[in-house]
Amino acid sequence: MGENEERYACEAFSSNWVSTVGPNLRAFEEDFSRLVGQPAVCLASGTAAIHLGLQLMSVGPGDEVFCSTLTFAASANPVRYLGATPVFIDSNYATWNMDPGCLEEGLRDRAAKGRLPKAVVVVDLYGQVADMDPILEICGRYGVPVLEDAAEALGATYKGRSAGTFGQISVFSFNGNKIITTAGGGMMVSPDPALVEKARFLATQARDPGIAYEHSVIGYNYRMSNVLAGIGRGQLEVLNLRVMQRRANFTHYKTAFANVRGLEPMPDASYGEPNNWLSCFLIDETKFGCNRDQLIGFLDAEGIETRPVWKPMHLQQVYQEYPTFGGKVAEELFKRGICLPSSSSLTKAELDRVVDRILAAPQQFRHEVPCHA
Ligand SMILES: Cc1ncc(COP(=O)(O)O)c(C=O)c1O
Repeated sequence: MGENEERYACEAFSSNWVSTVGPNLRAFEEDFSRLVGQPAVCLASGTAAIHLGLQLMSVGPGDEVFCSTLTFAASANPVRYLGATPVFIDSNYATWNMDPGCLEEGLRDRAAKGRLPKAVVVVDLYGQVADMDPILEICGRYGVPVLEDAAEALGATYKGRSAGTFGQISVFSFNGNKIITTAGGGMMVSPDPALVEKARFLATQARDPGIAYEHSVIGYNYRMSNVLAGIGRGQLEVLNLRVMQRRANFTHYKTAFANVRGLEPMPDASYGEPNNWLSCFLIDETKFGCNRDQLIGFLDAEGIETRPVWKPMHLQQVYQEYPTFGGKVAEELFKRGICLPSSSSLTKAELDRVVDRILAAPQQFRHEVPCHA
């Protein structure tokens, strides 16, 4: 937390605006809107934002929705909430994000079958924006709208423009692990104010205007509370600092591992500035001396928590039956990828300790090389 989160949240208490209406909600939406340059609506989570976004794109039973395969499950789950079918698209090594070539192959295939997807969910992985120019060009050519899942990418840019402004609808998450948090929450933005208004309506139980409780469509209880919006207001004030801290973490690791064979950082795509939400590396076992899982286990025993890169959706038990274009790149990134400690509050001493333990890891596994003498 920064300095003002508690003050704004306390104002919600002292004014009794603790629920889903109030001045913090208005102010958080206005501040956020000013930051990204599009109208915004505060929601209960990033997942809720994707759900409403896809519904506003008229996704329904029988439709297909393309989605990056290398992501967290919440990018794809709302496709199923709506009874539609996800079709997964592989990443490329240059960005770890959706591969435009693979996307094009998928759209060409579906166009030939006369059955284009209703939407494409493009994820900005680990705080790096996907290569939006070719992706938007291809989707535009086929007339398929993009929902940008910028849950992990607030504060990143693509060719100078903010992450989460490239979709017909874009979404952000303020989950506890994100670069800024409201404990739990999300935001939907769109260049089209009417879509944002519709989302606000659906998120507050779709109550028709007037004092009577009348409903002409089915809504959701997806609005953020005024208390949490207060936290969000304060967090937005420290966003730039958080981005600097996350970038500093990644730079620290990259500098420390510059001459280490088999430990390769997630590439910084030349087209933009990532927020480096998580510091990710790829391990080449033969060069480094141990594999990703051995390293995770070793660090865990040292009290250092790390995680594998997201398990691709097309490998998940719940999604393995669904169509996928490509998949091998995401599979390799998953198999070899590790997310290192990335908190904004890490000290230099803590980062140094992580580096020291990572460098010590391969020695622990040398004796495991089978000896046939
Ligand atoms: C890529 C991605 N999409 C969607 C979400 C869902 O956001 P939330 O946890 O706010 O529902 C997350 C994170 O949780 C995420 O990492």
